[in-house]
Amino acid sequence: MNPIEQLSRRQLVVVTGKGGVGKTAIAATLGRSLAAAGRRTLVVEVDPRENVHQMLGVPPSGGAIVQAESRLWVQNLKPRQVLDEVVRERLKLELLARRVLDSPVYHHFAAGAPGLKELATLGHALRLLRGLGAPGTPDLDTIVLDAPATGHGVSLLAAPRLVSEVITSGPFSVMSSELAALVGDAEKCGIVVVTQAEEMPVEEALELRQALRDRVQRDPELLVVNGLYPPAPHQVPGERENELVALWRRRRALNERELARLKTGWQGPRIELPQLPLDRGPALLAALSRCFGESARRHLGVGEGEGAWS
Ligand SMILES: Nc1ncnc2c1ncn2[C@@H]1O[C@H](COP(=O)(O)OP(=O)(O)O)[C@@H](O)[C@H]1O
Ligand SMILES: [Mg+2]
Repeated sequence: MNPIEQLSRRQLVVVTGKGGVGKTAIAATLGRSLAAAGRRTLVVEVDPRENVHQMLGVPPSGGAIVQAESRLWVQNLKPRQVLDEVVRERLKLELLARRVLDSPVYHHFAAGAPGLKELATLGHALRLLRGLGAPGTPDLDTIVLDAPATGHGVSLLAAPRLVSEVITSGPFSVMSSELAALVGDAEKCGIVVVTQAEEMPVEEALELRQALRDRVQRDPELLVVNGLYPPAPHQVPGERENELVALWRRRRALNERELARLKTGWQGPRIELPQLPLDRGPALLAALSRCFGESARRHLGVGEGEGAWS
């Protein structure tokens, strides 16, 4: 089975990487492809900007789950909102719940406790996958989680174990153990790392992989190298070159150098995507999906018949 097919069997696909490398664009591309492969898919973005909505051409929805395509939904998640929901759910008395939610102690706790927001985010995904979402939530096969950019997303994946080691009884303990099991199970949770072929992002992607090994005992399933410059036109010897073409050639040379570094430093499946002359939105998404399919065929040996990826 190729890695793309494997990803389409996961319940949870976590897309990680440094901010700005195209994490949201790739999460949307993956979500769309999984939906095309027949999976009922929700893309959850944890970023107040609601970029994933723009990418799919749906209006911002302020936290609600909205349908973007057939079998594809998107949601922008505010971890704090999810935490408040957990409190309301646990404390059935409205007055008591309000007291807790308004108290300064809770505010400090919610803002500062290490791992709590990450736990709330993953816990939300697990509840939806189990069909325990609010009334009107669609039945889902897969959630693609566009992880927050902070801490490379490792903190998100490491949080359940961290919390389960500190809190050993009560509902948070149960929840964190369940989430640690989900995140640690390569059959259930896939990890996709997005980067660009530039010095710092490559450095960080390699660090991220090491951090995942150390803290989650796992390797990512797929690396996506986004935003590659196309090969520059052939240089005519002795002829003075246009500055823009020279710039283009230098960026491409840098990309090639960093791709070579990845080839030696990162064993495992890799997808390469070009920098496209399109603004954020459905046209970019459609083009990225096509490039994704082409790269999967070229680099991963995904067959022609596997149309969901084209
Ligand atoms: N391959 C690409 N070609 C062209 N534009 C891209 C590509 N990948 C991402 N972008 C654009 O770059 C910007 C940052 O991408 P985004 O996915 O929002 O990054 P992140 O989520 O990592 O912060 C967005 O405007 C997006 O539309
Ligand atoms: Mg983003």
